Amino acid sequence: MYPTIDDLFTLLNTDGEAWYAAEPITHRQHALQCAWLAECAGESSHIIIACLFHDIGLLINPIEEGDDEHGPSDHDLIGVVALRRIFSEQVLAPIRLHSTARRHLAGVDGNYLNQRSPSLRREVSHMGGPLISSQSMVFRCMPGADDALLLCHYDDLARVDGASAPDIDYFKPLAHRLAARAQRVRTEIPA
Ligand SMILES: [Fe+2]
Ligand SMILES: [Fe+2]
Repeated sequence: MYPTIDDLFTLLNTDGEAWYAAEPITHRQHALQCAWLAECAGESSHIIIACLFHDIGLLINPIEEGDDEHGPSDHDLIGVVALRRIFSEQVLAPIRLHSTARRHLAGVDGNYLNQRSPSLRREVSHMGGPLISSQSMVFRCMPGADDALLLCHYDDLARVDGASAPDIDYFKPLAHRLAARAQRVRTEIPA
């Protein structure tokens, strides 16, 4: 059974109270800060909503005792499976690639990890470590890679205790608009 968009907002609001790995914020704060940073920077609607739901896979498959603090290493794919009947590929692609984008940045920029939190450094290692150059070349050719790098940028910044962000209800109209648009496109495309 696939979740509805309202199910996903409820999940962010309830289970999103859990701490986000070892960062000083909750999952919900992380998602809201990420989406708000994207909105304040004037990003497109699909980037804002991708930011909001990029880690929803971590709440769908929550961390259990004994698991790594960063949850399943395929949380990006788990999220996409949950979201694929709601949003367009424009929203899904950056979510699917956001962990790969971070591994790419860690591979091409020797300073990238040094400037990140210990929790984020452990996350990169948990996801498989920095990409080697041939893997980075493949990543850069993937549709949505640029958007994934944008998402990753806001994801990295959205870890600040006490940073301002609107209430979760603020993003509902935009999310519903994007979902309705994706639904329209789906029904207009002949089978
Ligand atoms: Fe993530
Ligand atoms: Fe994240």
